[in-house]
Amino acid sequence: MTKSSGPAVVESTREPIDYDKLAARRAEIAAEYLKPVGPQRTPSTARGIHHVALLSSDVETTVKFYAELLGFPLVEVIENRDYRGSTHFFFDVGNENLLAFFDLPGLDLKAYREVLGGLHHLAISISPRKWAAAKQRLDDAGVGYEIHSEVSVYFADPDGVRLELIADPLGEMYGDDIL
Ligand SMILES: [Fe+2]
Repeated sequence: MTKSSGPAVVESTREPIDYDKLAARRAEIAAEYLKPVGPQRTPSTARGIHHVALLSSDVETTVKFYAELLGFPLVEVIENRDYRGSTHFFFDVGNENLLAFFDLPGLDLKAYREVLGGLHHLAISISPRKWAAAKQRLDDAGVGYEIHSEVSVYFADPDGVRLELIADPLGEMYGDDIL
């Protein structure tokens, strides 16, 4: 498992994987497209992630988990304009970023699986001190987790959404400034 992949990646068993070939292709792509920090790199056309929207099976359960356990204040609750009866609600995850959810009443939502375009995991930056406190709250609440690279704690929300609380600052990846 690579450092950035997170836990529980399902490996295909259909055919042998040529890891050397994959590594060579990765190096080719990096050589062609990766721009180091500095004048060679043009600024992003975007100014940030306004919100990521995930699905919830139960609004109050999700609110309790994110607001009360993780400490992300609930800042908005509205009806989903695209789906009558659906509650669309938003949490403050710092830096003017929002984590949103909605439920879809009447739809039989299936359990998480890896699909193209699906969310694998969501990593949220948190200071080292608050990271330790969050881990303690997970312990107290009986939420299981895995720790990787000493800065990332991985766990699942009540609907199985994979979360990572990472003690690295924004723009930094395992000690390297990448922004
Ligand atoms: Fe990650």
